Amino acid sequence: MLGWEGLENLCINCKKCRLHEKRNKVVFGKGSRTAGLMFVGEGPGRDEDVSGVPFVGKAGQLLDRILEAAGIDQKDIYIGNIVKCRPPGNRIPTPDEARACLPYLRNQVYIIKPKIIVCLGATAAKYIIDDRIRITRDRGRWHERKGYWLMATYHPAALLRDETKKRPAWEDFKSIAAKLGELKAH
Ligand code: URA
Ligand code: URA
Repeated sequence: MLGWEGLENLCINCKKCRLHEKRNKVVFGKGSRTAGLMFVGEGPGRDEDVSGVPFVGKAGQLLDRILEAAGIDQKDIYIGNIVKCRPPGNRIPTPDEARACLPYLRNQVYIIKPKIIVCLGATAAKYIIDDRIRITRDRGRWHERKGYWLMATYHPAALLRDETKKRPAWEDFKSIAAKLGELKAH
């Protein structure tokens, strides 16, 4: 495992998969390196590829509003993605791309040691929790593994496409806020 600066340097120069060919910026992650709560999305979109910062587009703005409403402090969180470079046209990253990039995310988790990891959407849930997970069926469930509490919920982009998902997502975020409060109290 590398330290933070070494890891960031490695990522910024990474050419392990084809996504490096069309990227503008590597999107390493944002937030606190001592966060109790880590969110993992799928991969950078256009706004993120341009800015180099995850979740700054419409989905990210919705996530910020949900966090604020749930009383989750931005100081308590870190946000990353399964892949750090934008898949062209926002397609789902291929298994090869995800496998090439995942060691970087694992290294970040190892450094941050969050108490909770929340997977935003099916891609993150598949690679972090379980290959067979289905968000509609399995969202909101807590899994404890190796000292981490894991949960999958809808990707905020899914909430923008389908209003009916907002209510169950809100239940999940309340559960996340409660769990974080509980774990921090110990
Ligand atoms: N996923 C999203 O939700 N939005 C993007 O722009 C890219 C991936
Ligand atoms: N969608 C994602 O999955 N990740 C981002 O960083 C932005 C949109």
